[in-house]
Amino acid sequence: MKLILLGAPGAGKGTQAEVICEKFNIPAISTGNILREAIKNGTEMGLKAKSYIDNGNLVPDEVVIGIIKDRLAEDDCKNGFILDGFPRTIPQAEALDSMNIGIDCALSIEVADEKIMQRLSGRRVCLTCGATYHVDYKKPAKEGICNNCGAELVQRNDDKPETIADRLAVYHSQTEPLKDYYKKAGKLITVEGQEEVKDTTRLVLAALEF
Ligand code: AP5
Ligand code: MG
Repeated sequence: MKLILLGAPGAGKGTQAEVICEKFNIPAISTGNILREAIKNGTEMGLKAKSYIDNGNLVPDEVVIGIIKDRLAEDDCKNGFILDGFPRTIPQAEALDSMNIGIDCALSIEVADEKIMQRLSGRRVCLTCGATYHVDYKKPAKEGICNNCGAELVQRNDDKPETIADRLAVYHSQTEPLKDYYKKAGKLITVEGQEEVKDTTRLVLAALEF
C-alpha cells in the first residue's frame, strides 16, 4: 500500500500513521519528523529548516522533495509506505508523480480549525523517541515523562497558539488544494476526524478496506 495522508496540522496524521504502519508493516515517513531530527542533530538542512518551521511556514519545496526522493529509494519502502506530511504543495505532488511510484490513494482526515487549536496546544512530544501525547486526550503514565523512553516531554515551538493559527492559514492556502488534485486523479478518500482516536482509526481502516 502506497498511501498519502492529508489533513490540517493536528488532524491526526501522525497518530493514524502509527497504527497503519504497525498493522501493515510498512514505514511511515513524516517529513516533519525528519526535519525535526535534522534540527536536533544540527545538520545544515536542520539549520536551514528551523526558522521556517518555528514560524509556521513551509520549508522550501526543493528541500523536502530531496528528502523524500532519498527516503523512498531505501529498501524498506519496496512493499509500500505511508507519507505523513508530504506532499504539502502542488509542486511537491507533481514531483512525487514524476517519481512514477504509483500512489494508491490520498486519505484526507478532516478536522475543523477550532478543534485543531485545542489539540495542538495540548500536544506534548518526546524529542528522544518521537512519541506524542496530549495533556487531556493521551496522557503519559507519569506526567511530563515519555512512556517509551523516560525522557522529558516538551511542547513543540510551532504548537504555540499564535503559530498554530499561521500553520492553519498555510494549510488552507497551500495544502488544501491537494484534495482537488487527488480528487481529479480519482485517488482522494476523505474521513471525518472523530473525538476519539480509536474511532478515527476505525473509519480510516474501513476507508482503506482492510
Ligand atoms: P509536521 O510535523 O508534518 O506537522 P503538521 O502537519 O503541522 O502536523 P502535526 O504533526 O502537527 O499534525 P498531525 O496531523 O500529525 O497530528 P497528530 O497525530 O500529531 O510538519 C511540521 C513543519 O515542518 C511544517 O509546519 C513545515 O514547516 C515543515 N514541513 C513538514 N513537511 C513539509 C513539507 N512537505 N513541505 C514543506 N514543509 C514541511 O495529532 C495532533 C494532536 O491531536 C496529538 O496530540 C494527538 O494526540 C491529538 N489527536 C489526534 N487525533 C485525535 C482524536 N481523534 N481525538 C483527540 N485527539 C486527537
Ligand atoms: Mg505529525
